Amino acid sequence: MPGIPLLLTDMIIKSLELKNFRNYDILKLSFDAGTNLLYGDNAQGKTNVLEALYLSAAVRSHRGNKDRELIRFREGEAHIKVELTKRDIPYRIDIHLKKDRPKGIAINGVPIRRASELFGIVNMVLFSPEDLSIIKNSPADRRRFMDVELCQLDSSYAYVLTHYEKSLKQRNRLLKEIQFHSELRDTLDVWDEQLIKYGSEVMDRRRRLMEGLNPIFQNIYSEICGGSEEIEAFYDANVEADHYRRMLLKSRESDCNQKTTSVGPHRDDIGFLLKKVGSEYSETCSKPMDLRTYGSQGQQRTAALSLKLAEIELMKRMTGENPILLLDDVLSELDTERQRQLLTVISKTQTVLTSTGMENLLQQNFKIDKKFRVVDGRISTVI
Ligand SMILES: Nc1ncnc2c1ncn2[C@@H]1O[C@H](COP(=O)(O)OP(=O)(O)OP(=O)(O)O)[C@@H](O)[C@H]1O
Ligand SMILES: [Mg+2]
Repeated sequence: MPGIPLLLTDMIIKSLELKNFRNYDILKLSFDAGTNLLYGDNAQGKTNVLEALYLSAAVRSHRGNKDRELIRFREGEAHIKVELTKRDIPYRIDIHLKKDRPKGIAINGVPIRRASELFGIVNMVLFSPEDLSIIKNSPADRRRFMDVELCQLDSSYAYVLTHYEKSLKQRNRLLKEIQFHSELRDTLDVWDEQLIKYGSEVMDRRRRLMEGLNPIFQNIYSEICGGSEEIEAFYDANVEADHYRRMLLKSRESDCNQKTTSVGPHRDDIGFLLKKVGSEYSETCSKPMDLRTYGSQGQQRTAALSLKLAEIELMKRMTGENPILLLDDVLSELDTERQRQLLTVISKTQTVLTSTGMENLLQQNFKIDKKFRVVDGRISTVI
């Protein structure tokens, strides 16, 4: 929404406390409102700190681990406590991870019933080296990108998505049973209705997300590549909303044979089209190309970075707040121009970043407000 003045209020993580989380027995860290650096050798526990912070915003581990894997070896449970302020109001988020039971979450000491109630309290964007390969990774990774973003922006999305996934599971189970009990075939109608109800909503939200993201993404991309290329990111839906019902019915026969549902948003993707501008190439080959299939590694990484930066900007516009940035060892993966783009964003918001060394950051005259040295599950503040 260009032109509309936006009120950016402060959201600041004050502290993090861990108990029996990953390789930490007990940890307490106080963060600066600016840029915080965690540095240390490999396998010391840098990413574990970001993972714990991220859990307080996204409920699930960004590494896709199960709760039991986050609990320190040989321990039964783990605790994460995050203290933050939002518009000067203090919040405390307590997460209690258990081995064989769902996690318990409390906001300001009051337990919440659904994990999704946590969404929207604090917005974070985590950026790790794997994100730089999102363009060449599988569609599942790009769907996850949309879903994680939508969950943080709108807590009702998690509800819709969970119901879609449950209905899909039920329908797939039924497709397997139909081969032995053909009389069950008629009950497919019930699940088709559920799929259409929730699936259409998922599709609608994803489409709107990509429509909001695309113009920001285009600007960032063209700035990084100096205007020599034009790009477009779009919602690459598996099926058009208007044809959803018809396509589900049409594919019923083959779904029964394959024993899986072939049509719907669980097969969605994000598409990227790239076009060179003002070059001979563009005159002879003006047709946009699919970046996922034909892009060079550099083009794909630039697009991935632009997508991440666009995500931050969109979140800022939608919530009126700068999301907190968690950067896991990404600066060393980027060249100078791309680093510069990222540093501009970092300078505007609270950031926690990790690095194995500091040389690279110091060369960039990069301002670090607080440094922590991480050694084997112990962290000391460096003055
Ligand atoms: N559940 C767990 N219990 C105890 N230790 C764990 C657990 N899960 C992971 N670890 C340990 O945590 C360490 C890895 O931590 P982390 O991924 O934060 O490292 P890092 O400092 O980010 O390293 P790198 O620079 O290689 O990314 C490893 O030593 C691993 O054995
Ligand atoms: Mg790491």
